Amino acid sequence: MRRSLFQNILWTLPAEVAHNIRMTLLGVVGKIPTGKWWIKVCHAPRKENLEREVFGIHFRNPIGIGAGFDPNGDRLEELAATGFGFVEIGSVVPRPQPGTPRPRIKRLRSSDSLIDNSGYPSRGLEYILNNVRHRTDHTRDLIIGCNIGRLTASHREDTVKEYLRVFRNMYQYVDFFVINISCNTASKKFVPRSHEEILQLIEPLFEFRRGQLDYRPILLKISPDLSWEEINTVVDVLIETPLDGIEAVAGSIDMARKSPGAVTGALLTERAIEVVRYIATKTEHNYPIIGSGGMMEPEDIKRMMDAGASLVALNTGVRENGLRLLKRAAKRIAQREDNK
Ligand SMILES: Cc1cc2nc3c(=O)[nH]c(=O)nc-3n(C[C@H](O)[C@H](O)[C@H](O)COP(=O)(O)O)c2cc1C
Repeated sequence: MRRSLFQNILWTLPAEVAHNIRMTLLGVVGKIPTGKWWIKVCHAPRKENLEREVFGIHFRNPIGIGAGFDPNGDRLEELAATGFGFVEIGSVVPRPQPGTPRPRIKRLRSSDSLIDNSGYPSRGLEYILNNVRHRTDHTRDLIIGCNIGRLTASHREDTVKEYLRVFRNMYQYVDFFVINISCNTASKKFVPRSHEEILQLIEPLFEFRRGQLDYRPILLKISPDLSWEEINTVVDVLIETPLDGIEAVAGSIDMARKSPGAVTGALLTERAIEVVRYIATKTEHNYPIIGSGGMMEPEDIKRMMDAGASLVALNTGVRENGLRLLKRAAKRIAQREDNK
């Protein structure tokens, strides 16, 4: 996809600086009168027939923003104006954590990819709660997913309690949850992979949900580095428990080889599509999957949906190719729907 002039300028800057400039500008434009209207005019997809119902939630289109793009929910009003089908905030952790010292996101220019070693920097639960607690006219209809992750410094035995704490506090303010069981490189200590470990983490969440009036879907987000046997375990958990779906995949630590961090972007495309296709086939397309990983072009998004994803969550594609990816992808998906 051809980059705009603005995107080409951002591309000359370090990846994290470029992202921060985009988010700051988005915030500035959003604050001026008619700013959100302009954002909408420039970026929102035309009224294509892209609405759908997934895990009981109505989405205006299937193209969302993935975790790590607006981790603290600071730009929800502006992202709502861009027209994304949903925004996944987080990873939300119970206390603020600075993440890894900068520079921590490396751009692999020749392969249109990043190595993310940010270590899930977060302003923590209290701050994020403040951002989602009061929906405004601009965010009232925005579907918000809450991705829950692990504090880098927390002890293994505290992890379950900490996930539950974030889940309980965020429950009434967001629309669905993504439980991140892929690890970030700074917290390799506890990556639940076995049946028991995954159940240990999610059962307390199901129990809390059972006592609530409103139902919030819960999905598991998995690493692309899992073996097929480990993916089978996740599928078994999906089938045996009240889990609502899977998000596949996060960044790949294995692909980063000797560099600390996880590969995201184009190098991940084929693996991400392969994992989504495998899970969709194994579950006979009976469970929702959010496709994530390496969707840099509208065609990648179309292929991800062909593989069985009901929704897609973008990150590196928008960082590196700009917000125009949304409008173009929506057009491609609308064509796909017409050809069905
Ligand atoms: C800078 C950066 C930060 C990220 N932070 C998170 C995070 O906090 N939690 C999470 O689950 N995934 C995080 N991700 C992973 C993305 O949500 C996504 O799953 C992954 O990057 C693959 O998609 P992509 O190739 O489109 O970026 C992050 C990715 C990047 C590039």
